[in-house]
Amino acid sequence: MSDISALFKGVIFDLDGVIVHTDTLHYKAWKSVADRLSIPFDEEVNDRLRGVSRGESLEIILEQSKRRYDGAQKERLCTEKNGIYVDSLASLSALDVAAEVSDTLKLLKGAGLKLAVGSSSKNAKTILSRIGLADFFDAVSDGTNIQRTKPDPEVFLKAAAMIGLKPSECAVVEDAAAGIEAAINGGFTAIAIGGAAASNGARFNIKSLSELQKIILK
Ligand code: G6P
Ligand code: MG
Repeated sequence: MSDISALFKGVIFDLDGVIVHTDTLHYKAWKSVADRLSIPFDEEVNDRLRGVSRGESLEIILEQSKRRYDGAQKERLCTEKNGIYVDSLASLSALDVAAEVSDTLKLLKGAGLKLAVGSSSKNAKTILSRIGLADFFDAVSDGTNIQRTKPDPEVFLKAAAMIGLKPSECAVVEDAAAGIEAAINGGFTAIAIGGAAASNGARFNIKSLSELQKIILK
C-alpha cells in the first residue's frame, strides 16, 4: 500500500465505453440487425442500450418495430447480434486501451485501491483478455454472475463483495444512465463519464478517465 491517501478504498469500472470503446462495436452490431429488419435505430436509441442486457436492449430496439416477434425469434435476433459483435471483438488488442486509461488504472492500483469491473456483458472476460487486462483487476463481476441488469445494483454489489468492500467505500465509473442509477441505488458514489451518463444524478461528471486522479487521490 502506498502512502497516497484516497477518498475511496475501491473503484468499480464499467467496461464497455469506459475502459475500452466496445460501446461502438455494440452499436454497429445492433445497427446491422436493425437495418436488416428495417427498424429505425440511431445513437439516441443506442444511448438507452448502454449498460442494459442483450435481451433488454433488443426490447428497446423493437419498440420502433411495426411487427411483433415471439420469444424464439427474439432469441435468434440476440444470437445474430452477438455473433456480429463477437466477430468484431477479434481485432481488439491492448492497443485499443487508450494511454490515459491504462495510466489511470495503474496509478489507482499503485495508490493501493482495489479495482474491479462491473459490467452487464457476458463477453466481459473475453474482452479483458483481448485487451491484455485479464489479470489486472482484483475482481470481475459481469453478465455471467447476475440475475438483474442495471439499473439494478446487483452487478456492483457483487463486485464490491468480491473485493471485500462496502458500497460506501467504493466509487463506480459509468458511461450509462442505467449504470449511474444502479450505482446510486446500491449506495455507491457515482462518477459519470461522457454525455449519455451525464445529468443523471452522478456525484461527479468527467470527460476523460484521467480526471479520476484529482477526484479520487488526495
Ligand atoms: C454492456 C453494454 C450493453 C450490452 C450489455 C450486454 O452493459 O453497455 O450495451 O447490451 O453489456 O452485453 P453482451 O456482451 O452480454 O451482449
Ligand atoms: Mg458502458
